[in-house]
Amino acid sequence: MKEIKIESSFLVYSDINELPNDVKGLMQEAIEARKNAYAPYSKFKVGAAILLDNGEVVIGNNQENAAYPSGMCAERVAIFYASAKYPKAKFLKMALTAGSIEHDTSSPIPPCGACRQVISEYEIKQDAPIEIYFMGKTGKVIKSNSLANLLPLGFDSSYL
Ligand code: THU
Repeated sequence: MKEIKIESSFLVYSDINELPNDVKGLMQEAIEARKNAYAPYSKFKVGAAILLDNGEVVIGNNQENAAYPSGMCAERVAIFYASAKYPKAKFLKMALTAGSIEHDTSSPIPPCGACRQVISEYEIKQDAPIEIYFMGKTGKVIKSNSLANLLPLGFDSSYL
């Protein structure tokens, strides 16, 4: 028996204004997308914006449903649409923002496990890391250089 250690490191920006300009713009698109989320049940709105290597930005937000599991997270709305519309493009950067409409959320909110799994699929497919930036409604922004940092020991097609 032996122990293995897996380390991840992240950058923490004090707020959106400290981000590089291109990422700040991307996060602003995610914030606008968040406002348009359809979240009448959880009242928790999430916005995503993805920058592709063809220069396009694709946004998404969470879409809920009265049959709760039929809804979809913002990240997957964006990533599936981006892959549907631009199947050859690579994902360079992804900006995420989330928060309740009932109270303020200043701590950075990371993507859920299912979205990490989906983002991982595309990161492996394109064989290049995707930068992920996530925040609450305001406040600090965390940057991960790769989805892999957020999903150690992930499951992928090599096991099939
Ligand atoms: N949600 C997302 O859109 N992304 C995540 O990574 C976490 C959760 C949505 C799903 C649901 O509409 C609401 O947030 C509450 O879970």
